[in-house]
Amino acid sequence: MARKGRFLSVPYGGYRQAAVPPIDDDLQRVGPGTPGGEYLRRFWHPVAQSVRLDDRPIALRILGEDLVLFRDRSGRLGLLHRHCTHRGTSLEYGKVEARGLRCCYHGWLYDIDGTLLEAPAEPVSSPYVGKLCQGAYPVIERHGLAFAYMGPPEMKPPLPAFDIIDQAGMVVGHGEPTITGNVKPCNWLQIMDNVVDQVHEPFLHARISGVQFRDKTGREVTELLDLGEPEWFETPIGILCEEARWVGDSVWIRSMEYICPNIALVCQTPVLPPVYADGADEIASLPLICRWRVPVDDETTTEFAYIFYPRQGVNDYLSNAIPGTRSNYGDRPYEERQRYPGDYDAQVSQRPIARHANEHLASSDKGVAMMRRMLRDGIETAARGADPKGLIRATGEVATHANETVKRWPKGRTEAENCAILKAAMRAVFERSSQGSPAAAMRRGELPPLAIQPLLS
Ligand code: FES
Ligand SMILES: [Fe+2]
Repeated sequence: MARKGRFLSVPYGGYRQAAVPPIDDDLQRVGPGTPGGEYLRRFWHPVAQSVRLDDRPIALRILGEDLVLFRDRSGRLGLLHRHCTHRGTSLEYGKVEARGLRCCYHGWLYDIDGTLLEAPAEPVSSPYVGKLCQGAYPVIERHGLAFAYMGPPEMKPPLPAFDIIDQAGMVVGHGEPTITGNVKPCNWLQIMDNVVDQVHEPFLHARISGVQFRDKTGREVTELLDLGEPEWFETPIGILCEEARWVGDSVWIRSMEYICPNIALVCQTPVLPPVYADGADEIASLPLICRWRVPVDDETTTEFAYIFYPRQGVNDYLSNAIPGTRSNYGDRPYEERQRYPGDYDAQVSQRPIARHANEHLASSDKGVAMMRRMLRDGIETAARGADPKGLIRATGEVATHANETVKRWPKGRTEAENCAILKAAMRAVFERSSQGSPAAAMRRGELPPLAIQPLLS
């Protein structure tokens, strides 16, 4: 664990805090043999959009390992260590064959599991053919993403099937997902910190950069200028992050879900109307984005996401048709990023690897502290050879918890009463999600009404 930095209480005290402390080796390193790297290797991760695969392999770097992904001419996916086990030439220059991938240099041919199938310049009695293996990892293609498992083979879990995505790759009530891949030049953990930090939204996405959320008429959702009441609940697979406020005579409860170790479910996005704008009395909606942050190495992260909102909304988002909404990208002019910074700018500028020892976590960082504690527990559990939280052995649907809910409930008479109502509303959303998957219930048209029971003293 990184040692805590000093509490500087001396004005003009820069000199006393000039040295930059080291990183947290457990949480922030992802390479082979590191505690965090071994933990992350116990889970399946998306490594590429499978639509990118043609008759050439793709060079990838995942968890600090150089790899190649390919689809052989029989349609099977293979993920191999990039450097040929003969004399190290990169297999990104290899030829895809009916069975496996052939190195360009001396023609050694590897099956998708790494087995050396042919070594053309060697005698028939070669001790290598059929025995020697190139490093390889299992890959599964699901709804347009290629998922890899890079951990100990004997501990491989099933690829989780989250309940918000049905067999056809659709989320309840929405169409086919758009799949994105997006690279950020920073450690994966500072991008995950952002997921459990709903408190940044009224500042970064509203007061600082202008309101970046709009309803379907294009109106800025100015309600987000004010900080809602935040709360964090531990679930069997991670954290349900909620935030509640009044909109007229209704309580609007927003939620995000963190799923260990690197998944975020997002219910609201800048280009979709908040559910309350429909004017309904009591409604709920499911996540619209399911996003993984996959470490390329310690200082780079690729984001893969299924985005479920309507195609036009995705196009508007990706083409920057709505000013200020491309907050997750770094390709904007520097001046624009300074004047209207977004998530990308806030996260990447925490340094390539943020220094936890220099941070001063406050009460609004409860979610960040919870998530890091969960990760530390997971790292220790994985090191003992057991299954960390979030690793699911059962096959079948995995219940998620996030949803966005509006409940008719007029304000109380005092601030204390209002605070108790908002807290009760958030607890009710959490408890409802704990009693059964909201996604499965919504699919059956049976999401139970919210039972808010404020404790008023
Ligand atoms: S280096 Fe790959 S076959 Fe020789
Ligand atoms: Fe954000």
